[in-house]
Formats: sequence, structure tokens, C-alpha cells
Amino acid sequence: MKLEWNLDFPVNSGLLSLMQTAADQTLLTEGIPFPCCASVRICDDKAIRLLNREFRGMDSATDVLSFPSVAWPEGVTAGKQPSRLKQEYDEMMDACFLGDIVISLDHVKAQAAEYGHSEARESAYLLVHSLCHLMGYDHVKEADQKMMRVQEEAVLSAIGISRDDSPAVSDETMLMLAREAMKRSYSPYSRYPVGAALHAKDGRIFTGCNIENASLGATICAERTAMVKAVSEGAREFDVIAIATGDTPGWPCGICRQFMSEFSPDIRVLVTWGEGAHVEESTLQKILPHQFELKG
Ligand code: THU
Repeated sequence: MKLEWNLDFPVNSGLLSLMQTAADQTLLTEGIPFPCCASVRICDDKAIRLLNREFRGMDSATDVLSFPSVAWPEGVTAGKQPSRLKQEYDEMMDACFLGDIVISLDHVKAQAAEYGHSEARESAYLLVHSLCHLMGYDHVKEADQKMMRVQEEAVLSAIGISRDDSPAVSDETMLMLAREAMKRSYSPYSRYPVGAALHAKDGRIFTGCNIENASLGATICAERTAMVKAVSEGAREFDVIAIATGDTPGWPCGICRQFMSEFSPDIRVLVTWGEGAHVEESTLQKILPHQFELKG
């Protein structure tokens, strides 16, 4: 990701390089396969206050301001509609322009002291938050806020940092992500959509849906889609999988149970159906006793 720096004063290079890493990971986690760019201005409270007054009618300093180049429709983020982002191609930068970010270093310092972590870590957090805004995330409605927090946490944990006070991801959030994933199901043959959300012990979350095939046999279940995505991104250990289905409970099939036991024989399994009206919980150990093992 190309960041066009606009520094009002000299800024520590360690801080800038962590921000660059965070920006690269934000694109990766969102799944944007082409180069993007954004401008990042680092200023003080006085300058951000002027901008906050001019553009948002708020006469106060703040930590970060985001000005997206795309007016994303509600519920759509860049990863879901990369074609919209492609329209922002900037020839000079040879990348798609996401928008402008302004960060106040005065706020970075104060918040880093408050959370007891480094200024680099706080700036990386603010940059990820702002880039998520540029990609269509927002935190006006509670459900959207949860999605945005999950996305931010996924990025931060992938680069080995996290806000010290960050809450563990709740079962409720995992169930919501599974229901969201179910909407992406490709199931024209069975008309039985399934969604899954898998929580890796390193904090990342991977979602999946069932993807059917005209041959029927080549169909991939939602649980395995999520796990294949996770393992191929380097995650190996998992603690929870949430599975969402339509009107009837969708406990994992035998192949998925065996598949999951390869990596996490003790994973918790949550199932939800009826648009969230029903939730049940078990463990893989309980639903797959005596899994197959190749003994040497
Ligand atoms: N399916 C899953 O996604 N997970 C399971 O554990 C069982 C079945 C999908 C596969 C197929 O697309 C549809 O449900 C009906 O079998």
C-alpha cells in the first residue's frame, strides 16, 4: 500500500514504518488484490481542530479524521465491491486512491500514555481504524461497530499488536459473523446456505460459506472453507467455530468434524439457526469421539 506522507513536523521513523506495516496488512485482511494508496497527514491538535471545524462543524481537536474517496453504500466494504475502488485509479500513484487521513500526534501521545503502550502502536491503531473507514466500515449502528472492531482486531493481531484493553471476541460476534458469511453462500443445488466464522488462537477470524458445484461431490462445506482459508494464511490453532444455517440446526458433517480435529480437536462449536433465534453449543471432542488418527 502506498502511503503519501504529509508530515507537519519530523516524525520518528519507527512509528512511520509500523504504520506502513499496518496499512499493508489492512489491505491484505480486507482481501484487496490490487495496489491502493492514501494520503496521511500527521499534525498537531491545533491543525486537526481547524480541519474538524471546517469539514465536520466540530470545534474541537480529535485523534483522527478520515475522508474517503468513495461514498460506500451502507453495509458495503471495499473487499465486497473492489470494482468500485478500481474507479479511483490514480495514474500518478499507479494505485487506487482510498482517501485522506489526518492524525494528531498530540492525541497519539496522550492516548498511548493512557493505554500504557507505545506511540507507534497507537498510531498504527489509528491508521487501521481510519483505513477501515476509507474502505466503507463505520460505527454508527451497533452491528456495524462490531464488524469494524473485529476487522481492526484481525489486522492488529496479524501484525502482532493489539490495544491492551481490546475485549476478547464474544460468542455473539462470532455468531453474527457466521450469519453474515451465510449470506455469501453459493448453494443453488441444495438451497441450504451455511456460514461459518472461525476464531484462531492468534486472534484472527476467518469466515466461510458452503460453495456448491454442479458435480455435487466437489461441494465444499462452510466450516472447511473457513478452515482452509485460515490454515493457508498461517493459522494453526483455533478455539471457536460458529456455524449459521437457515431454519434447521446445522451441526457439522462428519467430514468437517474430522477435518477440524486435525488442527483443533478441542474446539468449541456454536450453532445458530432461525435468524439467531436458536443457539446451541458443544465441543468437537463431544461430537467426534474417537477421531481417525494415523499412528506411527
Ligand atoms: N454443508 C455445510 O456447509 N456444512 C456441513 O457441515 C454440512 C453441509 C453444506 C454442504 C451443502 O452445500 C449443503 O450444506 C447441503 O448439504
